[in-house]
Amino acid sequence: MDAHLAFRTEGWKGKRLHLGVCGSVAAYRALDLVRQWQDAGLSVSATLTPAAQKFVTPLTFAALGASPVYTAPFDDAQAPTPFAHLEPGQVAQALVIAPASAATIARLAQGQADELLACQALAFRGTPVIAPAMNPAMWSHPATQANIGLLRSRGCAVVEPGCGRTACGDEGQGRLADLREIYLAGLRALAPQDMAGTRVMVTLGPTREHWDGLRFWTNPSTGTMGAAVAVAAWLRGARVEAVCGPGTPWLPAGITRHNVVSARQMLEAASSVWPLCDAGVFTAAVADFSPVPPADAARKFKKSDAPDGFDVHFAPNPDILKTLATSRRPDQKVAGFAAESQGLEDSVRGKLVSKKADLVVGNLLQDGFGTADNTVFVADASGREERWTRLSKTDVAWRLLSWLLSR
Ligand code: CTP
Repeated sequence: MDAHLAFRTEGWKGKRLHLGVCGSVAAYRALDLVRQWQDAGLSVSATLTPAAQKFVTPLTFAALGASPVYTAPFDDAQAPTPFAHLEPGQVAQALVIAPASAATIARLAQGQADELLACQALAFRGTPVIAPAMNPAMWSHPATQANIGLLRSRGCAVVEPGCGRTACGDEGQGRLADLREIYLAGLRALAPQDMAGTRVMVTLGPTREHWDGLRFWTNPSTGTMGAAVAVAAWLRGARVEAVCGPGTPWLPAGITRHNVVSARQMLEAASSVWPLCDAGVFTAAVADFSPVPPADAARKFKKSDAPDGFDVHFAPNPDILKTLATSRRPDQKVAGFAAESQGLEDSVRGKLVSKKADLVVGNLLQDGFGTADNTVFVADASGREERWTRLSKTDVAWRLLSWLLSR
């Protein structure tokens, strides 16, 4: 699992996710989902429809730790409990159906309780997450689209199927979505929606300052920390605007991504979304300077252009955090990051003031660049200070959002 998606937060310890698996070639991919949610600290139970059992076995799900695994027909006297049709709905906090077949989607839309999984879905008090997988003609059929529309109108989260070639050889939209989308939709169904109704901007990754037609000035930021903040805010119900430098990680489709290259482009993109936002988290490792390009910046600078070497002049870049924090409305909250080689605590306190931020999270260069976890010193404008040692970046993201929300 990518480091920015590995959420093992306290928030869902002891929670159970129920996975419904329908008949589809993609049924085998549901096994990876069981693993991923378990790695996040959830307990997972499963129901395999009779059609699903033609593709995958209950034993495989049980061997991977799914418990219980329901397979018995709805009215089977041999079923382990007479309440198999109710139990997941009473015990699990999230219900994800992946892959969801056209038949099960139709049952769910009609509230038809003639099959175990459909019955469990009917007895579930929340709204299920549905990840359809089927032939493109079946997916685009007006009947399926009407059923999906109905389920959406009842609040179901639909993880749109992907486009491409399906197992039957047809091209189009219909194959099971990227598993990361389904994994995150399951977590979102469990996460506290304490950021619902808010919009958050996150800057992330490095910037790249071009010098000639080939070369540029940059730094080794991977954008993992910022991606973890963006995903954490989205899981908690926020709308998220991610302003991403080059090479930053994959983000779910629910997050609006603004790809930029240079510091100036990042400022431009951030400035255009900032007035719409309630909070900004500035994690990007923005280049503070850009090399002043040679006369013909589009051309490759040749060895023969400077046989004895040459000097490059660097011009300052705008400070994005400081610019936007200075001009913010009183209701907008701002968190910054600080990457330091020494004097961490004093630098964090200094940047709180100089950048006009509400909160600054600082780390030493060796603790935060290119790693999955981080040791940070956090301070806010009211004087509260904390040190978080060797926390995953996803935990740092979760905690910093809680802190920012509470201010
Ligand atoms: N930042 C920014 N725009 C810049 C430089 C920094 O938005 N041109 C933001 C970063 O995203 C981070 C914070 O400012 O949230 C601190 O960045 P950092 O690189 O630690 O500090 P600098 O402002 O670059 O200052 P210095 O180089 O003196 O440490």
